[in-house]
Amino acid sequence: MDVHRYNYAHQFGEGVECLMAELQRMLVDGRYVLTEDVRRFEREFAAYLGVGCVQGVNTGTDALTIALAALGIGRGDRVITQANTFNATVAAIRLSGATPDLVDADDRTYLIDEPQVAAAVGPDTRAVVPVHLYGKPTPLAALRALADRAGLAIVEDAAQAHGARIDGRRVGSLGTAGCFSFHPSKNLAAAGDAGAIATGDRALAGRIAERRNLGQRAQNEHVVAGANSKLDALQARILSWKLPRLDAWNAQRRRVARLYHDGLAGLPLSFQAWAPHEAHVFHLFTVRTDRRDALLAHLRAAGVDAVVRYPTPIHLQPAFADLGWRRGQFPVAERLAHELLCLPIRPDLALPEIEFVVDTVRAFFGA
Ligand SMILES: Cc1ncc(COP(=O)(O)O)c(C=O)c1O
Repeated sequence: MDVHRYNYAHQFGEGVECLMAELQRMLVDGRYVLTEDVRRFEREFAAYLGVGCVQGVNTGTDALTIALAALGIGRGDRVITQANTFNATVAAIRLSGATPDLVDADDRTYLIDEPQVAAAVGPDTRAVVPVHLYGKPTPLAALRALADRAGLAIVEDAAQAHGARIDGRRVGSLGTAGCFSFHPSKNLAAAGDAGAIATGDRALAGRIAERRNLGQRAQNEHVVAGANSKLDALQARILSWKLPRLDAWNAQRRRVARLYHDGLAGLPLSFQAWAPHEAHVFHLFTVRTDRRDALLAHLRAAGVDAVVRYPTPIHLQPAFADLGWRRGQFPVAERLAHELLCLPIRPDLALPEIEFVVDTVRAFFGA
């Protein structure tokens, strides 16, 4: 049996005909840029998150870059994030002109190690970017208190965590701004690249609106050198159609995670910590073992599309070599890079597929 990691087309299932008719209407209508369809999705996503404003942009990377720039963060400023994230988090900090400072991850949650953040704050620090990694929400209360004391912004990287909740609140609504990617692999996915920034700060939302649209405040009035990064109207329509289905898809992901968790109990593996007061949305389901590479080879040989996210921590990526980070500097991130492996997880993963993955892992450990 082949168990695939992705099935992007699955999200266009039942009821897709009315979406197709609407897309056709939009194509012949002849209006494509920042239309009412974009504003409608922005309103719907803001209501879903429980936040005042959402601005749609081209990608999650742009969401982070534009949010930082709209906060006035740029050259000479420093922004703290974690060493175990996808490259885009740190690339966006650099693209804003600021310098990234890394801290290590917590060994159990794989989230930003909050006590290390306090130690990393310096006179030029302007923001912290916690990443809700693999769909697990980062508790922000302590970070919020630190940020308030030190005058820092919190820019959530929620690219992997649409719909995740902690203490009843959705990620993306907890910080100064929340940044989302709707890349086709994500829990809420466009049919191509797309992203969004959420914020409860109306003045910031206004600056984001300018920054995504060539710095334009009114026709021919350009107040800053902004990006051209507007959520595409067709993607917005697709996202509006999918949004009401997101919670059900996330519940299915949690069901798959629970079956993996239970099926793999007793093996010499560990899992990302999972707390009762949080709704993890399992963008990825990871298992941790010091025999990771052998397990990966075993799974792939059996037809299980397992993968490593991410095999090289940020501080060892060539893109950031000039920042002078050293091997050994962020030991948890390095261990996670060597020990984590992602099992296939999708809302439509069928029980026989889940059982096959569990059996294949159990067979590797001779269980
Ligand atoms: C944690 C994280 N941050 C940022 C991004 C960037 O999103 P995008 O690919 O839409 O630019 C991604 C996804 O690719 C991600 O996983």
